[in-house]
Amino acid sequence: MLLRISILLLYITLASARKVLYGWNIGWMNANPDGRRERPVMAVNGQWPPPIIRATVGDDLLVTVHNNPPNETTSLHFHGLHQEGSNQMDGPPHVVACPVPIGTSYTYRFRVKEAGTFWWHWHSNGQYMDGLRGALVISDPRSPYQDKCDSELVMSLSDWYHDLQAQLAACYLSPDCNPSGAEPVSYSALVNDNSDTSLRVRPGETYFVHVINMAAFAQMYINFEDHNVTIIEVDGVYTQPRTVSSLYVATGRRYGVLLTAKPDPNKNYAIPVAMDVDAFDNVPNYLRPNTTATLMYDTSKPVPREITVPFFDVIDDITLEPWDRQVALQQPKTRIELNLELFPAFGQNRAGFNGVSYLSPLVPTLYTVVSAPIPLLSDTRIYGDYTNAFVIDYGDVVEITIHNTDDGQHPLHIHGHQVQLISRVLGLFNNGLSHAGQTPIRRDTWTLAGQGTTVIRFVADNPGVWHFHCHMEWHLAAGLAITLVEAPKLIQAKQKEIDANMESICQSQGIVTTGNAAGNAKDWLNLVGQRSNP
Ligand SMILES: *[C@@H]1O[C@H](CO)[C@@H](O)[C@H](O)[C@H]1NC(C)=O
Ligand SMILES: *[C@@H]1O[C@H](CO)[C@@H](O)[C@H](O)[C@H]1NC(C)=O
Ligand SMILES: *[C@@H]1O[C@H](CO)[C@@H](O)[C@H](O)[C@H]1NC(C)=O
Repeated sequence: MLLRISILLLYITLASARKVLYGWNIGWMNANPDGRRERPVMAVNGQWPPPIIRATVGDDLLVTVHNNPPNETTSLHFHGLHQEGSNQMDGPPHVVACPVPIGTSYTYRFRVKEAGTFWWHWHSNGQYMDGLRGALVISDPRSPYQDKCDSELVMSLSDWYHDLQAQLAACYLSPDCNPSGAEPVSYSALVNDNSDTSLRVRPGETYFVHVINMAAFAQMYINFEDHNVTIIEVDGVYTQPRTVSSLYVATGRRYGVLLTAKPDPNKNYAIPVAMDVDAFDNVPNYLRPNTTATLMYDTSKPVPREITVPFFDVIDDITLEPWDRQVALQQPKTRIELNLELFPAFGQNRAGFNGVSYLSPLVPTLYTVVSAPIPLLSDTRIYGDYTNAFVIDYGDVVEITIHNTDDGQHPLHIHGHQVQLISRVLGLFNNGLSHAGQTPIRRDTWTLAGQGTTVIRFVADNPGVWHFHCHMEWHLAAGLAITLVEAPKLIQAKQKEIDANMESICQSQGIVTTGNAAGNAKDWLNLVGQRSNP
């Protein structure tokens, strides 16, 4: 009887999932968010900044994209959502899908199972820096902090370039144009795609502020003048509360914080945001690395001027604790060691892991999994020589150790998981080791220090093909990525074929959907013809 009731309840829950629909026309328009230069941006429905996506845990989210620009393919990624059971909706072209070509529509459709602060962005060749990205906020009636906040606010941080990504990337990758290999640096810092953003607050109320770094390259400091904030969520994981005055937000990362407005303010307050310019190879004269947003109590009072923060008192995020106090995973069964390197390859300034600079396979890796003979699914050779594929068995505790041979820090991002941060070694000589406690924080984006090492762990409980890459978009363009092929037999058992829409999208571009990375479906270990240069 009890079983029957619970089956009935399950049925009702499934049947009553709310559908949240977005219909987007993607196209170019001009914008000038920093007031310094008008430039083409990728817009949604003729508007820029593009919209925030909002949904509630348990909703079915449907985003229909009509790709109308005359000269770009598209692909959306919902950064931080696990896409459990909906791998293809994760987005990255040639990893799990084909790009959506010019003049074509496609609907991303999946159930939202995670709550908190996320973002969505274009996931082809780093093109999101041309403007096609925005916040993704998933509310949660069962949040442990539900009673603590009255309202919410969104703060996206970004670095704004004046030139189109394609031109910048071409020069960045070319040793002739860019002998030093330095990454292009943006012109301005923006908050909510603006250089004078105001956040309206009412005295005494508490806000759940969603802070998202959607920059292409810059890590950002943020401080709240004369207000402390309490971290309650990172990357979609509720944390034990931690009160701070400043945050360090690496590219791709998010912080959910509570901010309580003063009960009797007599002025408006500054929210200084500053790029971490120490992370840049060079700091060009044209760069304005800082911006100031306003915590606006009273529009009749003056807007605060820029203030100098003598010292951003930020915490090491490895010291945060998840709300659920999940303990550190033990005895990893799969161990992966990665050396992060920047090196020349294919006549370009490239980057990669273990000497391999990522190149897209001819067949999207997910479709190789779907079409391959079962005995070969765990043979990484079928995924090609340039996808840096690692096969993981279902249920394994996986440990990935990443060593950085570069002096710069790198924000690394994994799709499909939030991983436990186990330890982090800062610097060349193993000094400054920080270990998580018994209950390590989980994130989907974490920092690897210059010449440092970071160890992460997760359970392979989400069958799928997952990209794992540096979230400095220049480095993704340079091939700093691997492919995790998680539980391929289970993927194949569940997905016998590609959905008809995606199949025709692939076909219309001549992208093969069966076979190994070279499109060979007869001789699976023969990779002749695989893509071997960018
Ligand atoms: C694509 O179109 C935009 C808007 O017209 C233009 O600025 C850009 O240069 C074009 N890109 C390419 C690669 O032709
Ligand atoms: C913020 O927290 C610090 C450390 O607990 C405290 O010294 C400071 O007074 C607090 N500031 C405000 C504005 O509450
Ligand atoms: C940016 O802000 C930081 C912190 O307030 C300050 O130290 C730095 O001098 C500022 N940089 C510029 C160029 O204004």
